[in-house]
Amino acid sequence: MFYEPRLKNSGLAIDPLKALIVPRPIGWISSIDLEGRVNLAPFSFFNMVADSPPILMFAPTGAKADGSRKDSLENVEKVGAFVANLATYDLKDAMNVTSAPLPAGESEAAKAGLEMVPSQIVAAPRVKASPVALECRYLQSVSLPTLDPDQPNTVVFGDVVGVHIDDALIVDGRVDITRARPIARMGYSLYAVIDQVFKMTRPAGGA
Ligand SMILES: Cc1cc2nc3c(=O)[nH]c(=O)nc-3n(C[C@H](O)[C@H](O)[C@H](O)COP(=O)(O)O)c2cc1C
Repeated sequence: MFYEPRLKNSGLAIDPLKALIVPRPIGWISSIDLEGRVNLAPFSFFNMVADSPPILMFAPTGAKADGSRKDSLENVEKVGAFVANLATYDLKDAMNVTSAPLPAGESEAAKAGLEMVPSQIVAAPRVKASPVALECRYLQSVSLPTLDPDQPNTVVFGDVVGVHIDDALIVDGRVDITRARPIARMGYSLYAVIDQVFKMTRPAGGA
């Protein structure tokens, strides 16, 4: 089959595009507002995009029901910091709870029963139960084209200035991420869990 997303002519009930770009890692983004109130939300438009310095992106798309910008975007741009926490299989239900569209200033973390702890460097706190947390300094936002001006598309970039790793994940000097069992977003309401990996070295002998 072939279809053009803008024409919505796939013939399927749901546009399958997001079911094709998988698995998408989930950045579980914690932030605070100017009054210090905690916000936590998952973003699967999320990835690492540069090594040196290490730069992450997450992309808030669309708006809240009242037309305002998503709290994560608002907070990160105003306060200048966020933390990308790793969403794991054990934390999947809590992660899902934190995707609820709560009013600004109401903590999704509290709603999910998650304890937040201070970060080392940035003002935003991290999820205590998550085995990996990446402290980020806000770098810049880029506004992308949108087909509906009421539903803006933005990419937020952050510089990773601090990395927390649960020592239990370190085996022989490397991170064994299967011990954390990260979850990833698939299409529709499906998720994958990373509990198996395989190794392949590059022809040139790269690591
Ligand atoms: C697994 C998962 C991934 C999500 N990824 C995104 C995303 O990449 N971009 C986005 O705008 N919303 C995404 N959402 C929805 C947001 O989490 C949701 O809109 C949330 O209410 C935003 O919270 P905030 O207003 O506190 O920032 C995702 C939800 C789930 C459950």
